[in-house]
Amino acid sequence: MRDETIAIHGGYTPDSTRAVAVPIYQTVAHDFIDAEHAGAVLDLEVPGFHYNRINNPTNDVLEKRIAALEGGTAGLVVSSGMAAVSYAVLTVATAGSNFVVAPQLYGATFTYFAHVLPTLGIEVRFAPDDRADSIAALIDGATCAVFCESIGNPAGNVVDLEAVAAVAHRAGVPLIVDNTVATPLMLKPISHGADVVVHSLTKFVGGHGTTLGGAIVDGGTFPWAEHAERFPLFNQPEPAFHDVVFARDFPERPFTVRARSVQLRNTGATLSPLAAFQLLQGLETMSVRLDRHESNARAVADYLAGDPRVEWVSFVGFPDHPYYDLAQRYLKGRVPSIITFGAVGGYQAGLDFFDALLLFKRLLNLGDAKSLAIHPASTTHRQLSDAERAAAGIRPETIRLSIGLEHIDDLIEDLDQALAKATARSAGTA
Ligand SMILES: Cc1ncc(COP(=O)(O)O)c(C=O)c1O
Repeated sequence: MRDETIAIHGGYTPDSTRAVAVPIYQTVAHDFIDAEHAGAVLDLEVPGFHYNRINNPTNDVLEKRIAALEGGTAGLVVSSGMAAVSYAVLTVATAGSNFVVAPQLYGATFTYFAHVLPTLGIEVRFAPDDRADSIAALIDGATCAVFCESIGNPAGNVVDLEAVAAVAHRAGVPLIVDNTVATPLMLKPISHGADVVVHSLTKFVGGHGTTLGGAIVDGGTFPWAEHAERFPLFNQPEPAFHDVVFARDFPERPFTVRARSVQLRNTGATLSPLAAFQLLQGLETMSVRLDRHESNARAVADYLAGDPRVEWVSFVGFPDHPYYDLAQRYLKGRVPSIITFGAVGGYQAGLDFFDALLLFKRLLNLGDAKSLAIHPASTTHRQLSDAERAAAGIRPETIRLSIGLEHIDDLIEDLDQALAKATARSAGTA
C-alpha cells in the first residue's frame, strides 16, 4: 500500500462486528482465558493484551500504522511527544553515558537534554551545528546515541541524515531522529539511516489541536548485539522484565519492546484509547491536509518576502534558504508549513506583531488546521539564556508561523494588519 492508503487502512483488521472505524477499546484490562494463557501473554510468548498501561487494541492500530508509514518494524505510542523523547532516551542511556545532539531542538527537548538528563548522570553534548563532522567530533566510547530533529523546530534546519547516520554507525552508535515536523509523508528517516524515530503526534498527525500523543518507531536496523559492551541494557538479562535479553530475544524490535516493557510499564505515560482514536482520525486526512498547508505556506512566505515591513523571512521553500538543497533532497520537493520571520523593529516589533494578530492563534503548537503564531523569545524560549536561544536559532524578533488550512486571503489580511501595528512603533507613528 502507498502512504495515503496506509494512513487510512494500515494496522487495522476489523473483528466480527466489521466496524469500519477503529473501535475505542475503553477498558483497563483484558480477561485471560486461563492461567496458561495469562503466563504466555505476560511473557510476550503470544500476542495479546493484558493491562492498558502497557498496551491496548486501539493504540495497537495507531502503533502499527505509524510504524508502517515510517518503514519501521514496530511502534509504541505514549501520552505525548515529550514522553516519546524521554522514553527513547532512557531506553538506551545509563548513568555515565552521553548523548551527542544537534543543537536545533524544540524548547522542551532542549531543556530536557540540557538540564534534566545531567541530574541523572547522563551527559548531553551539544554539537555547535548539525553537520556530520561536528557531531562526529563529540562521539566517544561512552556515547549511547546521536539525536537530532530531521527538521528542527523552530529553526527549520534540515539535517543531512545520511551523513549523520554514517558517522554514528562508524562509531557503533544508533541515530535517533525526531520526525515531528517533517511527518513520514515527507521524509522517512529510517530509509536514510536512522535507527529509531520519535514523534509528537500532537502536531500534523492529530492535525486539529485537540489531542496530545507521542510515538517511538523501531527501525529494527541497529546491531545492538555487535556492541554488547556499549549497550548492556540490550545485551544483559533485564531484571525489570524477567531477565529478557532484548537484542537476543526480540532482534527485530528490541528498542520498542524495551521502551514498552521497562519504561512504559513501570512509569506509565500511557496514551488513552480515546486519544489514540482521535489521532487515528487525524492521520486519515493528513495527506490532503499537508497539501493545503503547503500551498498556503508558499503563498504566505511570498507575501512576507515582498513586504518592506518585513526584515527577513526564513522559509525552506526559498532557493536562498541555507537548507534549500537538503530540503530538496530529503523532502521530495515538498516543504513544511512553518515560516519564521522578523518584522522591522527587533524584539518590540515581534511582540507588537504577536499581540495584534486577530485570526492567527497565539499559542504553543504547530500543525493545526488553524493558523498559529508564536514569539519564541517571550514565550517558548523565554527560560533559555541569550546564548542558548541564539544556538537554537532564535532571534529577539523571530515570529514562527504554522500555516493552517484557512482561505489564503484571510490569512494575508490578518498578517497585513498585524504588520501595520508592529511597525507603527518603530516608524514613530504609533
Ligand atoms: C519537534 C518536537 N518534538 C517534540 C515535541 C513535544 O511534543 P508534545 O507537545 O506532544 O509533548 C514537540 C512539541 O512541539 C516538537 O515540536
